[in-house]
Amino acid sequence: MIPVLQPTPENLRLAADCLARGELVAFPTETVYGLGAHAFRPEALARIFEAKRRPFFDPLIVHVEDAAMAARVCARIDARARLLMERFWPGPLTLVLPKADAVPGIAVSGLPTVAVRMPDHPVALALLRACGFPVAAPSANPFGRLSPTAAAHVAAHFDEGLSLILDGGHCAVGVESTILSLEGETPVILRAGGLSREDIEAVAGPVSLSASPSGSGADPGRPLAPGQLPSHYAPRTPLRLLPRPGLPSPFPPSPPLPEGATGLLAFRGPVPAGFAGPVEILSDAGDLREAAANLFACLHRLDGRGLDLILAEPVPETGLGLAIMDRLRKAAAARH
Ligand code: TXA
Ligand code: MG
Repeated sequence: MIPVLQPTPENLRLAADCLARGELVAFPTETVYGLGAHAFRPEALARIFEAKRRPFFDPLIVHVEDAAMAARVCARIDARARLLMERFWPGPLTLVLPKADAVPGIAVSGLPTVAVRMPDHPVALALLRACGFPVAAPSANPFGRLSPTAAAHVAAHFDEGLSLILDGGHCAVGVESTILSLEGETPVILRAGGLSREDIEAVAGPVSLSASPSGSGADPGRPLAPGQLPSHYAPRTPLRLLPRPGLPSPFPPSPPLPEGATGLLAFRGPVPAGFAGPVEILSDAGDLREAAANLFACLHRLDGRGLDLILAEPVPETGLGLAIMDRLRKAAAARH
């Protein structure tokens, strides 16, 4: 059993000491729980890939305490990047910028760039302050599985490989950060996430969306396929994304559902009449922010019910709906 500790000053110190020695520590952020390692120590970073069984071509996000710490990680921070940091940090925006020499190649899969963000969570920030060095952290789940939005999710995923889990309650945003590349003239969203495209465009002007490889076609050997493998974020139970909101009518539909128990992940309340299986509702009122915050917890619960299939209702693709639909498409594309 990995110890789950409350974020007291003593435990934060303990966690920072573990990280300084090159050990792994799971900690809360506003998006999902991260599996952290000292960002400047290659052998510590290697442990992340080992613990997650994550392929080495998938680079990590480096977490910083503030823009000054970002300057130790990035070779250059131009005016556009500064503006985005000032406006959205701390928060669920990861910026891809030229990397500083201090960042080892294993953190970035040999890329000339580094993904960096300042999390908006008091425990994450207190931990970074106690460390005094940047902490690389992917989501604290085995590669390709559901992301953790509570300490108990992390504890259920791992029984070795990390020294401790800091408990910071439920993650308020609930989907991973938006990853924005600032390499070219037009910023590119590499992964839809907790900050909406609309919010970014209001500050940075038009941004483009990298072609979503959800479903098929992503080359898993391509280092720039960031978190974009089609089968990411998968529950163990097969998941089918419904073509439109509401239950297929008539229900059960034809072609029929497979033999066995079926659960429903609904966008909004009330529970649809005529559905007998377990139902999780993302947001009673149909609020996309609330739906994002509940997404992984609802999927974790449905996944724990021994179902044969999860039906998922689509959500509108505006605001955080873009990130939710991205995660649902990837869960639906998973090979079981
Ligand atoms: O909200 C989040 O971002 C969470 C919390 C823990 O902060 N972290 C997270 O990390 O989602 P992870 O490792 O699951 O996703 C990081 C993604 C990967 O898909 C990776 O490919 C991409 O960021 N990435 C990292 N460095 C990159 C780079 N230099 N260029 C392009 N993509 C990069
Ligand atoms: Mg992840």
